[in-house]
Amino acid sequence: MSFPGILTPRLELVTLPPEFFVAILEGLRPVASSVADFQVPVEWPAETDAPWLRLRLSQLRQDPAIQPWLLRAVVPREGPRAMAGYIGFHSRPRDDGTVEFGYTVLPPYRRRGFAYEAAVGLMDWAVREHGVRRFILSVAPGNTPSRSLAQKLGFRSRGATCTKSAGGSSCTNSSVCDSSESHRCSRSVARAHWRALRILESPIDAL
Ligand SMILES: CC(C)(COP(=O)(O)OP(=O)(O)OC[C@H]1O[C@@H](n2cnc3c(N)ncnc32)[C@H](O)[C@@H]1OP(=O)(O)O)[C@@H](O)C(=O)NCCC(=O)NCCS
Repeated sequence: MSFPGILTPRLELVTLPPEFFVAILEGLRPVASSVADFQVPVEWPAETDAPWLRLRLSQLRQDPAIQPWLLRAVVPREGPRAMAGYIGFHSRPRDDGTVEFGYTVLPPYRRRGFAYEAAVGLMDWAVREHGVRRFILSVAPGNTPSRSLAQKLGFRSRGATCTKSAGGSSCTNSSVCDSSESHRCSRSVARAHWRALRILESPIDAL
């Protein structure tokens, strides 16, 4: 199955088929690059990425049509076709029109506005083509870059969720961007034909 990319002014958000995940999980970077038609950088993925990459592969095997919702490579449209980062939803939207997503821009490509542009492009696609009404981002409390990005996108904090494990406890702050409420979520998304909410309900530091 092949699915179109999402185009933003400077980026293409390329969907990734199961064959890409298989190759990357087996350490076959040249095969992954050839399947995806862009260069996969040697620094990616980190060993710690393997569990969630395996999860995405299993989701794709159970439901091949879910591919446009899952991981997309962020590929600059100018210059050599290389992966600058990745972005994607964690699943299809829930019945109430809510969907969670995440993003990473690789270090050499940071502070160029790529994460912001990719997030706006992804959210705009979900709203216009699939009627998504509400987005969720989960950000670790100390992650200042991502927290600032969420604020710039117009997400508002809904408080922290902490889980305990043998290694201690870890917390993420859940932030929400809701297009069904009366205000704008962010100027940029509004420019992309979407009206939503822009309020920071409580400081994310207040945990
Ligand atoms: C968070 C991340 C995706 C930002 O990517 P990026 O392409 O550099 O971000 P952008 O250039 O689009 O920046 C957009 C906004 O994010 C915020 N931001 C980005 N990097 C920041 C930093 N180092 N410090 C503070 N704010 C930052 C700013 O508000 C910025 O807006 P501005 O340029 O008007 O100040 C990137 O740092 C990253 O991949 N980090 C590691 C992975 C990660 O934390 N993922 C998120 C998990 S929830």
